[in-house]
Amino acid sequence: MFSFSELSKQFEEKFSQRHFPAAPATLYNAAEYILEIGGKRIRPVSVLMGNELFDEINPDAWQVATAIELFHNFSLIHDDIMDQAPLRRGLPTVHTKYGASTALLAGDVMFAQAYDYLTRINPAYIQKIIKLFNTTSKQVCEGQQLDMDFEQMKQVQFSAYESMIILKTSVLLAASLQLGAILGGAGDRNQHHIYEFGKNLGIAFQLQDDYLDAFGDPTKFGKQVGGDILANKKTFLLIHTLEVANTIQKEQIQVLLNSNDADKVSRMLQLYQDCKVDEWVKQLKEKYYQTALNHLEDIAVLSDRKKPLLELAQFLLVRDY
Ligand code: IPE
Ligand code: IPE
Ligand code: MG
Ligand code: MG
Ligand code: MG
Repeated sequence: MFSFSELSKQFEEKFSQRHFPAAPATLYNAAEYILEIGGKRIRPVSVLMGNELFDEINPDAWQVATAIELFHNFSLIHDDIMDQAPLRRGLPTVHTKYGASTALLAGDVMFAQAYDYLTRINPAYIQKIIKLFNTTSKQVCEGQQLDMDFEQMKQVQFSAYESMIILKTSVLLAASLQLGAILGGAGDRNQHHIYEFGKNLGIAFQLQDDYLDAFGDPTKFGKQVGGDILANKKTFLLIHTLEVANTIQKEQIQVLLNSNDADKVSRMLQLYQDCKVDEWVKQLKEKYYQTALNHLEDIAVLSDRKKPLLELAQFLLVRDY
């Protein structure tokens, strides 16, 4: 069995070849650009680990892992356009460097390329794999739309936020694990538990992402810190702060939501801190982490085989980039 870090290294090696032709360079260089600047490769490695939990790694799992990482990067290129984000992985975003039209196409071509990899797998599995892949892709679109819809709303319930992040983020991690499990011959019950493990872990992952967007170290995080505040994103930080704030603080928040002043980010961060979001995020991540672990327990394989997944879970909880 390979550990989380060994599989990450192996995937990086295979993935770092060129995925697109040379011409037109204006399109394909933009696509290759984001793939080359790195990333944690959590989702493709999850495909491999979901597979390895049940069997030796099947060559098809590498194809599916590659497709998943391409899909993820496609979603990031389009997400950065929607979020008007200047930075990704420590460098200018694709649309900042190549323009929005090329960025849209670079994303589109990446999504299509993902299917090229998917169709290379054993035909006996293709239908199941594509079905889950497509369901997940549509869910990500739904989550992304809700994320933007919420920008325009004054207040959002935590339960609505939770549903939104499950769609935009968690289902992809969950599906990555399940896709690997399918290729490993896992039964329905085991597939269900590995999906739920990934889903709950994915929620904790997005909570951490929202936290880092506000309080991350700009030299490590690789994205613009404060971007969610500038875009009036309804993150759990804002939702929680609005819930526990006193009347004066609530008013201050509403004023800030309608402002574009230079101190918008710093003043919002102060309100978050005054309302103790730090303590709350810890508790909340812990809750989803425990639920994830319960599902991991319920997977009917020897516990030794679960070690890499446990490593992944622990890493996701404490990551600072
Ligand atoms: C970023 O995902 C998008 C979110 C769902 C928060 P990652 O933090 O996994 O991005 P990379 O691939 O490692 O850059
Ligand atoms: C992005 O959520 C989810 C998808 C890309 C589908 P975010 O907008 O929070 O991701 P980052 O912070 O830009 O990576
Ligand atoms: Mg974004
Ligand atoms: Mg976004
Ligand atoms: Mg984010």
